[in-house]
Amino acid sequence: MNKNYEIIDHEFDVVVVGAGGAGLRAGFGCAEKGLKTAIISKVFPTRSHTVAAQGGISAALGNMGEDSWQFHMYDTVKGGDWLGDQDSIEYMCREAIPAIIELEHYGVPFSRTAAGKIYQRAFGGMTTHFGEGTAQRTCAAADRTGHAILHTLYTQALKNDAEFFIEYIALDLIMSDDGVCQGVIAWDLDTGTIHRFRGHQVILATGGYGRTFFSCTSAHTCTGDGNAMVLRAGLPLQDMEFIQFHPTGIYGAGCLITEGVRGEGGYLTNSEGERFMERYAPSAKDLASRDVVSRSMTIEIREGRGVGEKKDHIYLNLMHLEPEVIQERLPGIAESARIFAGVDVTKEPIPVLPTVHYNMGGIPTNYMAEVLAPTKRDPNAVVPGLMAIGEAACVSVHGANRLGSNSLLDLVVFGRAAANRAAETVHAGAPHRPFGADDGSKAIDRLDYYRNVDGEVSTSQLRDKMQRTMQEHAAVFRTGETLDEGVTKINECFADKVDLGITDRSMIFNTDLVEVLELDNLMSQAVVSMHAAANRKESRGAHAREDFPDRDDKTWMKHTTIHIDEKGSTEIGYRPVIMTTLTDEIEPIPPKKRVY
Ligand code: FUM
Repeated sequence: MNKNYEIIDHEFDVVVVGAGGAGLRAGFGCAEKGLKTAIISKVFPTRSHTVAAQGGISAALGNMGEDSWQFHMYDTVKGGDWLGDQDSIEYMCREAIPAIIELEHYGVPFSRTAAGKIYQRAFGGMTTHFGEGTAQRTCAAADRTGHAILHTLYTQALKNDAEFFIEYIALDLIMSDDGVCQGVIAWDLDTGTIHRFRGHQVILATGGYGRTFFSCTSAHTCTGDGNAMVLRAGLPLQDMEFIQFHPTGIYGAGCLITEGVRGEGGYLTNSEGERFMERYAPSAKDLASRDVVSRSMTIEIREGRGVGEKKDHIYLNLMHLEPEVIQERLPGIAESARIFAGVDVTKEPIPVLPTVHYNMGGIPTNYMAEVLAPTKRDPNAVVPGLMAIGEAACVSVHGANRLGSNSLLDLVVFGRAAANRAAETVHAGAPHRPFGADDGSKAIDRLDYYRNVDGEVSTSQLRDKMQRTMQEHAAVFRTGETLDEGVTKINECFADKVDLGITDRSMIFNTDLVEVLELDNLMSQAVVSMHAAANRKESRGAHAREDFPDRDDKTWMKHTTIHIDEKGSTEIGYRPVIMTTLTDEIEPIPPKKRVY
């Protein structure tokens, strides 16, 4: 064991990494069930990226018109372009209803209808009667729903005595010789001490890896640390080629303008003032699924109908909305538009551009949140002791494209599922097995290595190179040529890690070292995303190949799994999509052409 660091050992029944919506829901759920639970977070819990979620959380409550969880399931399967696992989707859509009622009882201050019910707005791809009407299914707390939910869940975690370790960055999983996850090793940014957490169940809730891109709606902390830890443990990630562009990021700044704007009646226009979505999605128009809207905007810009001096963006109009709607339902985006675009939304349109927003891929799990390590004999083999939830996970309810407002839902439903499963499988206070060959030493050596690197390339230079490569080559539209070039460039970025250095003596604070560790984490995810995208020769959901414009169910209706080794070489495999449902209350939804 490296002598440069003081090691402090902890024993818990459950160790949750990440304190966003998913981590808090799982963490307090475990604590509530009598399990001694640690929640480790690299930021203060209420600064987790869930706080930035705006438009809402979906559930077929039917408060604003007819609805059913079966309609919700149909929309989610279709939205994901038939790559989602239908058992998980059924579970999520059914459990949405009790999960939201539970949130309300915990104290989430949802907006209300005149009758006092939870207010629900329309969102993209959400319909009634299996694609016929428009569903108002997205439960909202104005346009600050994530903020409201995150703060409520944090208070529940405090109330249930989950033990917090705040501003600790998880370095790696600790795996036994026989492949069981035994705990996590983390670094306390305040004191510089190393903490080794033993847990019978480790739950990764570490969020997405949006920061592999130059322009994204994600916080700077969204570096997919858990995903990278899984890769370093020799386990695969799944469906990493599927990266969602949200249609309405503020042009230039990248900040999110909620889809709720279009749900409340806002619409997009091109340089000719045309509501062009009517051409691309005659039925759903501006409320088509995000991949469809982002592609349509990109085509408008490419064909010379973008707005602004450079004709390189699109307008989002909400000047026609009643001022009370903006004040009551959309106050946050009015503020963001003013600050980041200098726009008064009551008088001018907001300049917007598709911006990276969400990772459909991540750590493969089943609907009980258990991590999968697929083998040829058993594509659904479970890694004992390890769970993943939220954006870190690929459960896979979002398939090839997530519907707006299904993300907050995923957090709470599968956070809750993880706690329920842990309560079934973990015996409170059971003794821990001794560590095997992996006792956390390798993770500490990695920390030490990065502390002492003295090459020529700074963290910010290499991060910039990686982010620009991803932005240019893993874009809304992709071709074999751009992807192959992307693979070459991203491999070069990976190789450049050996030249990282502190020659400018900038690595003075722990935060500088955190940035290097995060870059290392991002880099492996950038590589597997680009390799997986180059490999998939079809168009499905957010993965739009101009050289393979059609979905090819015969060859490609399967999940990609991908490993990476220390040198950056990847190995691709596949897992079948689960096309069966859990109950006979709904039949599996067979694939068909996806139109809106
Ligand atoms: O547009 C939004 O408010 C984002 C919601 C989501 O990504 O689910």
